[in-house]
Amino acid sequence: MLDTIEALHTEGLETLRAVEQPAQLPEWYRTYLGRKGKLTEALRGLGALPADQRPAAGKRVNEVKEALQAAFDAHQDALKAAELEASLATGAVDITLPGRPVAPGHLHLSTRTLRRIREIFAEMGFQVYEAPQVETDENNFGLLNIPPYHPARDMWDTFWVDDQVVLRTHTSPGQIRCMREHHPAPIRVILPGKCYRYEQITPRSEHQFFQVEGLAVGHGIRFTDLIGTLRAFTRKMYGEARRIRIRGSYFPFTEPSVELDMDCMLCGGSGCRVCKHTGWLEVAGAGMVHPVVLANGGYDPAEWSGFAFGMGLERPAMLHHRIEDIRYFYNNDLRFLQQF
Ligand code: DAH
Repeated sequence: MLDTIEALHTEGLETLRAVEQPAQLPEWYRTYLGRKGKLTEALRGLGALPADQRPAAGKRVNEVKEALQAAFDAHQDALKAAELEASLATGAVDITLPGRPVAPGHLHLSTRTLRRIREIFAEMGFQVYEAPQVETDENNFGLLNIPPYHPARDMWDTFWVDDQVVLRTHTSPGQIRCMREHHPAPIRVILPGKCYRYEQITPRSEHQFFQVEGLAVGHGIRFTDLIGTLRAFTRKMYGEARRIRIRGSYFPFTEPSVELDMDCMLCGGSGCRVCKHTGWLEVAGAGMVHPVVLANGGYDPAEWSGFAFGMGLERPAMLHHRIEDIRYFYNNDLRFLQQF
């Protein structure tokens, strides 16, 4: 009986070594280790042995079974590894093939416009001051000379967080923060950022939008400095041929207050659909900083003066690029974004 087992062991190992294709492995397994295989048969044969020989023979059968199983596992792994290597060698997988390109994104039109504006004002010596989008009622209104119940509050439909806190309706509250932080030093900054208004969303109005505020505070700053600055900006931004015009207006935080228009960059002032046949486009609200606002910022209005302006970002960009709907700026449609 033991001889038969040893013979099976040798035979099993030899025939296994002869298996060269993974596909032949199951057949070998069935022959030796399967339920009707030669080893299982040998195990069954144990019952016919005299009782004193049974334990030794049983032990040996199990040892051989384990040895064959281990040999089978190792051979199977070796065949699989060889198969993979062969397929790599014959070029079934071409590792020199270039990868699929990752599509690079680019900056949003708003970001690019904002950067251009920053660049132009930087050349004129303006630094950037960033202020929070969630503001106190005081900064957004009160300290800008718009007390509670003042009718001018109707100019800004407001998102209220609670009765003291708002989502800023314009970038002007940054003026207060900047002055309080830097007085009594002179100031020359722009304050870009997102603003919010409680408005119905239409092709022409969004409840979120960008503004760029400007503020200069110093000794002897005059209205002509404001006009010169805005004219220089308009020409750099929209072309050297641009003309500007100033109209009287009203804002609580400036005195006097004006609106700045430029001639339409599409028709050159002769009138077209974009400028509604007026030849002019609105660019900014502006004025000389109101004495009350200067004082609220920590500057004595008897000694200091300043100018301020505020402009929207999306409207001029829409005119410039003939974008017909402001909602495109915020709904992340790649077909729109990829055009700029
Ligand atoms: N904050 C104003 C608005 O949102 C725009 C503005 C007008 C800003 C005149 C100014 C200014 O700094 O001087 O309508």
